[in-house]
Amino acid sequence: MPTRRHFLQSAAIAPLGGAAQTPAASPNDRIQIATIGLGGMGTGDTQSSLANGAKLVAVADIYQGRLTRAKEVFGNDVAVTRDYREVLARKDVDAVIIGTPDHWHARIATDAMRAGKDVYVEKPMVQKLEDGLPLGMVAKETGRILQVGSQRVSSVVYKKAQMLLESGAIGELNMVEAWWDRNSAIGAWQYSIPTDATPENIDWDRFISGAPKRPFEPIRLFRWRNYQDYGTGVAGDLFVHLFSGMHFITGAIGPERVYATGGLRYWKDGRDVPDVMLGMYDYPSRGKMPAFNLALRVNFVNGAGETSGFRFVGSEGIMTVDGGVTVSKQPREAEPGYTIGQFPKAIQDQYLKEYNAKYPRQKPSADGMRPTSQDKYLPPPGYNDHLDHHRNFLEAVRSRKPVVEDALFGIRAAGPALLSNMSVFNKRSYNWNPEAVKVEA
Ligand SMILES: NC(=O)c1ccc[n+]([C@@H]2O[C@H](COP(=O)([O-])OP(=O)(O)OC[C@H]3O[C@@H](n4cnc5c(N)ncnc54)[C@H](O)[C@@H]3O)[C@@H](O)[C@H]2O)c1
Repeated sequence: MPTRRHFLQSAAIAPLGGAAQTPAASPNDRIQIATIGLGGMGTGDTQSSLANGAKLVAVADIYQGRLTRAKEVFGNDVAVTRDYREVLARKDVDAVIIGTPDHWHARIATDAMRAGKDVYVEKPMVQKLEDGLPLGMVAKETGRILQVGSQRVSSVVYKKAQMLLESGAIGELNMVEAWWDRNSAIGAWQYSIPTDATPENIDWDRFISGAPKRPFEPIRLFRWRNYQDYGTGVAGDLFVHLFSGMHFITGAIGPERVYATGGLRYWKDGRDVPDVMLGMYDYPSRGKMPAFNLALRVNFVNGAGETSGFRFVGSEGIMTVDGGVTVSKQPREAEPGYTIGQFPKAIQDQYLKEYNAKYPRQKPSADGMRPTSQDKYLPPPGYNDHLDHHRNFLEAVRSRKPVVEDALFGIRAAGPALLSNMSVFNKRSYNWNPEAVKVEA
């Protein structure tokens, strides 16, 4: 006897496009998930989905230690396998979380949606630019939900920043700066390698499948971010969070020009990606948002602790976004040009006469003082945007309504990040068409 009505199977045979499908069963049914890639983030994602009421039924990972750990943490009933296709073949799995290294995202997400599963895929949505639009097509064709895992777009902090910007709190936006600096070995991805990292315990061939063939070398699995074959460098790891957060706040969909530079300055441990990277991006005007410039920075050698944040620079003030939002304003003083001392005396006098008529000198008075302001907005203590992002996903799985970060949003954040890498490696700038999501000549 089936223990559970499998409400999402009805959605699998719904018309293409996937919109507005009605779940067949009671909304009280628990959504059953499986996690593919149960490392650091896969575990965090699983916990956030469970905290939102989902049930974990299976885990796939190519390292045996993660499967042992899966049972230790999530219970003996969780089915485990090294082959993710076994998870996709299970009828009791409604949705999968994909927490593998980047080079597996597109393939597993495609296979999962074709197998009728909804997908939460970690950022960056794809490792290769050309995989972005096809993945979106698969989501459309299969009618599956696809949420990309940049949790900031579900954050109340970013929502507040969006509302403040929209309401004109800093006037007209003209520039955004964002950064993510670190100064530790773990911050720079020198992750621990387990003592049982042997060929018996690791399905090495599966790990490198799709990437160049190489002999067993566990450092490349446990520190996969350090290699272009599996990861996407600081741009795909961290710029992408800054792009997705900034796109959410501004409503922008991407730059029209990308230029980035960088290099490997300190962590020379065999990695083939930069540890310092700077990117410049020209954003065209869109709707009510004027054209603006974006500058991004990641520095893993910054000599101080980890900091990350945004500065939205407007004509009337500055909005910073980190754990909260701060809007700072100060009056713009009208000053007589400071070079007038080098004008001839008669011209100085004439200039000042006109200037003083236009900006009459005020006698200092308490009433005449102008305010500067700094308004801070903080979320409740302990606020966790990751929980909100998974709630948004699971609600979409149930309601078939769109998620906050679908494939188009995902590729519009990943695209300029991946182009930043291409810009560094190929030492050139790129023109990007964010509407069509493609590189232009
Ligand atoms: N949203 C965020 O804030 C955030 C934070 C960290 C990482 N991430 C993303 O999460 C993903 C995983 O990163 P991580 O730090 O957890 O890495 P990790 O190395 O800790 O975990 C990856 C896991 O995937 C497994 N794996 C590799 N290939 C596999 C395959 N073909 N099938 C099944 N399992 C496979 C590995 O054995 C490992 O257990 C990355 O794409 C990363 O960008 C997102």
